[in-house]
Amino acid sequence: MLRVIDHPLADHILTLLRDRNTKPVTFRTLAYQLTMMLAVDATRDLTTEPKAIETPLEPCTGHLLGREPIAVVAILRAGVAMVQPFMDLFPDVSVGYVGLERDHVTAVARAYYCKLPPLAGRRIYIVDPMLATGGSAVQAIDAVKRSGGVAPRLVCIVAAPEGVAEVSRRHPDVPMHVGVVDRALNERKYILPGLGDFGDRLYGT
Ligand code: PRP
Ligand code: URA
Repeated sequence: MLRVIDHPLADHILTLLRDRNTKPVTFRTLAYQLTMMLAVDATRDLTTEPKAIETPLEPCTGHLLGREPIAVVAILRAGVAMVQPFMDLFPDVSVGYVGLERDHVTAVARAYYCKLPPLAGRRIYIVDPMLATGGSAVQAIDAVKRSGGVAPRLVCIVAAPEGVAEVSRRHPDVPMHVGVVDRALNERKYILPGLGDFGDRLYGT
C-alpha cells in the first residue's frame, strides 16, 4: 500500500526542498513541481475510454479519461500547497479542506475546520506534504470516511516510517503515495532529515 516515487527529478526537487537556504518563493515552486509528479503517479490507474479522432495524417483511436469524478482533500495549512497541481491536471476536481494543527508540545493534532464536498462515488486524494506521527493523516481519513468517502488515497511529499506504520495500522485500506520515506522522527516528532516545518517554510512564517 506504499508507493515511493523513484525518479531522479524527484530526488533533485527534494534536495532543494530540504535545503535550509531555499527561500519560500522557490520552496512553493518546488512543492508544486513535486506534487505534480506525485499526482501523475497516483492517478496511473485511472480508467480511459477509446475515442476516434483524426490526426492531420490519418484516423486513429486515442484514449480519453473516463468519467470517474475526483476529489482532493487538503489538510490545512501545508496541504494547500498540493491542491493547485491537482486542479491544473484535473480541472473538474472537487476540493475539500480539513484543518488540523499539531500541538507544539504533544505533537497531537487538533481539528479546527472541516469543509468537504460530496464524496460518495468519487476517487479521493488526501494531500498533506508531511506524514510524521501519522496522527493528522489518520484524523483526516476518519473525517473523509465519516462523510461517505471510500478508500481514499494519501499523497505526501515526505513520510516518516512511524507515520506510514500508523496509517497502515489504523486504515489498512488506504494506499500511500509519497516522495520519500525518511529515517525517523526526532524527540519533537519532526522528520529526520526532513525539511523542517513545511507550513512555515511555505508561508515564510
Ligand atoms: C504538519 C503537516 C501535517 C502534520 C504532520 O502540520 O503539514 O499536517 O504536521 O504531522 P503528524 O503526522 O505528526 O500529524 P502542522 O500541524 O504543523 O500544521 P500547519 O500545516 O498549519 O503548519
Ligand atoms: N510537520 C512538519 O511540517 N514537519 C515535520 O518534520 C513534521 C511535521
